[in-house]
Amino acid sequence: MYKKYNFMETIEKNNAHMYNTTKGVLKMMTIAQIQNEILRLKKEKDICILAHSYQAREILEVADYTGDSYKLSVDASKVENKNIIMSGVRFMAETCKILSPDKHVFIPNPDAGCAMADQMDRELISRVKEQYPDYTVVAYINTTADLKTICDVCVTSSSAVEICKKIENDKILFIPDCNLGAFVAAQIPDKEFKLLSGGCPIHAAVNTDDVKRAKQLHPDAELLVHPECTPRVAAMADYVGSTSGIMNYAVNSDKKEFIIGTEISIQEHLQYMCPDKSFYYLSQKLICPNMRSTTLVDLYNCVKGEGGEELVMDEKTIRDAKKCIDEMIRLG
Ligand code: 13P
Ligand code: SF4
Repeated sequence: MYKKYNFMETIEKNNAHMYNTTKGVLKMMTIAQIQNEILRLKKEKDICILAHSYQAREILEVADYTGDSYKLSVDASKVENKNIIMSGVRFMAETCKILSPDKHVFIPNPDAGCAMADQMDRELISRVKEQYPDYTVVAYINTTADLKTICDVCVTSSSAVEICKKIENDKILFIPDCNLGAFVAAQIPDKEFKLLSGGCPIHAAVNTDDVKRAKQLHPDAELLVHPECTPRVAAMADYVGSTSGIMNYAVNSDKKEFIIGTEISIQEHLQYMCPDKSFYYLSQKLICPNMRSTTLVDLYNCVKGEGGEELVMDEKTIRDAKKCIDEMIRLG
């Protein structure tokens, strides 16, 4: 998927990269050397690497599967290796473990959480469910495994509209992202949606002034935004869609310039994929510190068995949370 290296990239790849191993020993390796070691070790140790599109390019280059959270959950359900490393944030690694309970699933950086997934817990949603007993609870996949155990169906940003249309109940309690929920509700006016005030603080921080500024700077560019942005920002966009939706739109479009309204890594990846087009970020606020916190060295240490964390989940949580993920894959 990613282009072969050009001259500048080769220089960058041969730059020495100093890192601190878990045993406190300083080593000097180039990015290319670390990548080659990861490729060698993952084969030797029967490891499959999945990486979300928001990860750094040097991580995506050594991954077996890359994509948005929906694609990764479908890919994860088909992996045959006995070990899986999910380079992304914790709820994504949890999803892998739920779908492959007999496999060893690891997260390279145990601190990589998701600010949205941590907003709502099982106790809160249990209370809300009591208020709305006849509503189907639709959980964005950016939720903890524990919360998923009491939800009816999961969705991702790329599958939410399609799945909510297929749900037989006309009453939907959509958690936790009210921006994605509003985007879905607007496209299914015949259903009644209850939304809670949660969401991604990174995408929600972008405002209409940011859009005006970016459009003024790049008047010929199309604006592509993620539905985690506010409805007012989404209303000013030429296209609203998931990470993969945005990437596919830009790659296949005849247009030459795009303002990217999602995590800044996507602007960088698209620029490498389409060197004849120009990509601008909508706002510098669109940097997710959690997604950025996993480095190639974290992944290397995890592949070596000297870093990262193996996900351990009890059988009941896996069994109960799996129901709503299976339902997502069935309806999606
Ligand atoms: P996608 O569902 O588009 O992969 O998005 C995941 C995410 O965390 C966006 O902030
Ligand atoms: Fe979570 Fe937002 Fe980061 Fe996505 S961008 S992982 S929703 S905090």
